[in-house]
Amino acid sequence: MGQETLRVLISEDALQARVRELGRKIREDYGEDASITCVGVLKGSFVFMADLVRAIGGNVRCEFLGVSSYHGGTRSTGVVKITHDLQKPIEGQHCLLIEDIVDTGLTMDYLLKMLKVREPESLKVVTLLDKPTNREVGVEVQYVGFTIPDEFVVGYGLDLGELYRNLPYIAVYTP
Ligand code: PRP
Repeated sequence: MGQETLRVLISEDALQARVRELGRKIREDYGEDASITCVGVLKGSFVFMADLVRAIGGNVRCEFLGVSSYHGGTRSTGVVKITHDLQKPIEGQHCLLIEDIVDTGLTMDYLLKMLKVREPESLKVVTLLDKPTNREVGVEVQYVGFTIPDEFVVGYGLDLGELYRNLPYIAVYTP
């Protein structure tokens, strides 16, 4: 592993507490009886989504979009590639897009445009992490877990070369 270091940025306890809070708030905003179609953006959001849908509770459908934009490096290329599309239509549904991180905003911008065309009843976004420093395109995000500084983070779904997704906390990676 050479000189690589991992420094805890958001602890497991802090993550779990914030996810519970987000879940409660989302359920409250949509209403007890609302059916919510949660769309997880793979791969990064899978850990967050697993915890979040349980915190939201009630009627929730789970769908997934496969997206790749970093291609294994530590910087965004701006190229958004759909690797897996939704398996069901979202027309007329309350759609909640779930991301692990919004960085340049390019991925989110692309996905929002793509999903709006499919005419959901509503379309909102929740991201665990928001890194506003690198924003290249403005995107409206209704729910943010944590706003973080411009550092490369891994864990709780976020990877570096496919590793570290299984860390239960968010850490800053220093090469
Ligand atoms: C990450 C993350 C977002 C995107 C955000 O995905 O999950 O989808 O980058 O970056 P942006 O705001 O600069 O567009 P990544 O391509 O690393 O794929 P992964 O989720 O499979 O790890």
